[in-house]
Amino acid sequence: MIRSAGILTFFLCAIRLSGGPRDGSIEQRVDALLARMTLDEKIGQMSQSTAMNTLTDSIKQEIRQGRWGSFLNAGSPADRAEAQRIARHESRLGIPLIFGRDVIHGYRTIFPIPLGQAASWDPALIERAARTAATEASTEGIRWAFAPMVDIARDPRWGRIAESPGEDPYLAGVFGAAIVRGFQGRSLLDNSSVAACVKHFAGYGAAEAGRDYNSAWIPEILLRDVYLPPFQASLAAGAATLMTAFNTLNGVPATGNPFLLRTILRGEWKFQGTVVSDYEAVTEMVPHGYAADNRDAAREALSAGVDMEMVSAAYHDYLKSLLAAGQVTLPQIDDAVRNILRLKFRLGLFDQKIPAPAQASVTPQSRALAQQLATESAVLLKNAGNLLPLSASVHSVAVIGPLANSPIDQMGTWVMDGRPEDVQTPLAALRRMLGEARVRYAPGLKNSRSVDRSGFAAALDAARAADVVLLFLGEEQILSGEARSRAFLNLPGAQTQLVDEIAALKKPTVAIIQAGRPLTFDRTASQVGAVLWAWHPGTMGGPAIADLLFGRAVPSGKLTVTFPRTVGQVPIYYAHLNTGRPASAAELGIPMGTPAEPAGYTSKYIDVDFTPEYPFGFGLSYTTFEYSNLRLNHPELPTGGAISLSADIRNTGSRAADEVVQLYVHPVTASVAQPVRLLKGFRRISLHPGETQTVTFNVTAADLAYHDQQMHLVAEPGRYQVWIAPDSARGLEGAFTLR
Ligand code: NOJ
Repeated sequence: MIRSAGILTFFLCAIRLSGGPRDGSIEQRVDALLARMTLDEKIGQMSQSTAMNTLTDSIKQEIRQGRWGSFLNAGSPADRAEAQRIARHESRLGIPLIFGRDVIHGYRTIFPIPLGQAASWDPALIERAARTAATEASTEGIRWAFAPMVDIARDPRWGRIAESPGEDPYLAGVFGAAIVRGFQGRSLLDNSSVAACVKHFAGYGAAEAGRDYNSAWIPEILLRDVYLPPFQASLAAGAATLMTAFNTLNGVPATGNPFLLRTILRGEWKFQGTVVSDYEAVTEMVPHGYAADNRDAAREALSAGVDMEMVSAAYHDYLKSLLAAGQVTLPQIDDAVRNILRLKFRLGLFDQKIPAPAQASVTPQSRALAQQLATESAVLLKNAGNLLPLSASVHSVAVIGPLANSPIDQMGTWVMDGRPEDVQTPLAALRRMLGEARVRYAPGLKNSRSVDRSGFAAALDAARAADVVLLFLGEEQILSGEARSRAFLNLPGAQTQLVDEIAALKKPTVAIIQAGRPLTFDRTASQVGAVLWAWHPGTMGGPAIADLLFGRAVPSGKLTVTFPRTVGQVPIYYAHLNTGRPASAAELGIPMGTPAEPAGYTSKYIDVDFTPEYPFGFGLSYTTFEYSNLRLNHPELPTGGAISLSADIRNTGSRAADEVVQLYVHPVTASVAQPVRLLKGFRRISLHPGETQTVTFNVTAADLAYHDQQMHLVAEPGRYQVWIAPDSARGLEGAFTLR
């Protein structure tokens, strides 16, 4: 592994210690325990259930009998403590349970959705948020969190893009590693740590047509260069567990996929942690058309290397008879059980006192952190005539739209423990900031999908009476997340019509959009002066938005996913190949709906620009930054050495602000064509007005490597273009040669 100046990390070699170092004393305890276990007890450890919704007598009895190794998303803190007491003190071998849960972007304190968090480009802050989530979850008896999700997502139709860090492999790796560090802390033994579960291995985000659970077809080279690196980075950070994906990958279900689980995960990466299937993904191998029946599915999953089966019961029902028939082996079962017991020992579950049941709560510190992350996640997409920030002396504002005061929607997808009463909405925050009298509220629409226009008149009245209109638009919580794919990416319901009518009043108007994915909203964007993209910002989204609108904070988020102009451009992402006939800037501006005359024979559309609406890495500020003086310390990158690339970034405006400086490279010739640009590093810097900072990236050959046609990771000699840039579409360009 090569590190350079803390910026670029390269994962060339196997991550020998991933899943945690093998601790000799733990291994001895695992072996000693395994030697005493019956086959039923072993299979029990390999079974995870949701059945503990209420801790009935029959579940208690099953726990005593060692029927379950783990429960997910179940029980109250008191039930979990009692179930653990029974497992530890009343089961034959005293093997503790492990309680897993979907702690996706916060536990009780809800942080922005992961796609929003990633837009902060602030791994240290993301790590602190994950630490807070771990502390809250562990307070309630949860020691295993099913996150980070590091599926590369290049299709906004896919509802789970909300849960992903976006489209870029390097950034997703940095993001995943930050969450792993936050969850697992200094040691898993610390009872405020939770084991991370990197998911969904692999290719889940490449679901065809963005339809959830759909097949993924990914050539191995793309798999290795794009889809796997974030997993490798998260495991290198120590992720203790991994979840398999629902989908087939190149025709083979990820949950029964020996190439993924044996060759790559255990073989190449030497992962020693626990592998859990996704929810019923073992038995879903039957409808996939891969396993003949549930018995066959159990055999496929175990043979591939799935240690624990989530929810379905194929292991419980069939492993015994499969073993008797010689279709699975005892060493296979023992290996799986070892991987599970090791996790429980590493977490201290065998040894620590069972914590008394307690309730997590939102604290002033967790609120401050949630507000900071919501602030840093918001992306300013448009600010015509510097409409924002609004002056504190604005006499009155109209607060309009279905997402101005909707706590549940503001929290976003995958919230099991966040509570609406903890949420501070934009409406509440603006009333607090400006005083009730200066805020006129009329939602216009009941929710984002509503087509009932009966609230329009009141909204128009409020707008007419105000100096500034704040339109809170977007998607409800339930429009993104699992099984929430969309074929249209427009603002749902009658929101566009609401904007049309408000815009006709010609008032200064700002759109604040909360959504779980990129949307296509060019008509709306053209009708308002400013657009602030807030994602689903979580518990403290309201105060974060209010502060940003009124300049108490300055936007600094940048997109980690490309925003298309229209759904027909999807998939569209910055790190594409050039083609033999790339379109040029001269071909921009083709009128919508009219075939260009004459249309050149280049790679573009004849009815819409080939460029995205907003590129990856893009985000505006209330100040301006000037990039200058790109310099390389040497024209060549010497073998075994590093090259330093620097640029000066100056704050040329009048506000102190943060800027996310990005480094991209492109090998001009390669044995396998490479993306036009690929992110290799970034830095978030703070600059006072007039201040200049030099940002330096050190690049080694290893940082430039990609897979060749033989699947070797290679850094090929030749010329490399580089950019130090504010986003993926601009920047200072230079070049060097790798000898
Ligand atoms: C299915 C989801 O795909 C996965 O991400 C989640 O952790 C499990 N269900 C458990 O809820």
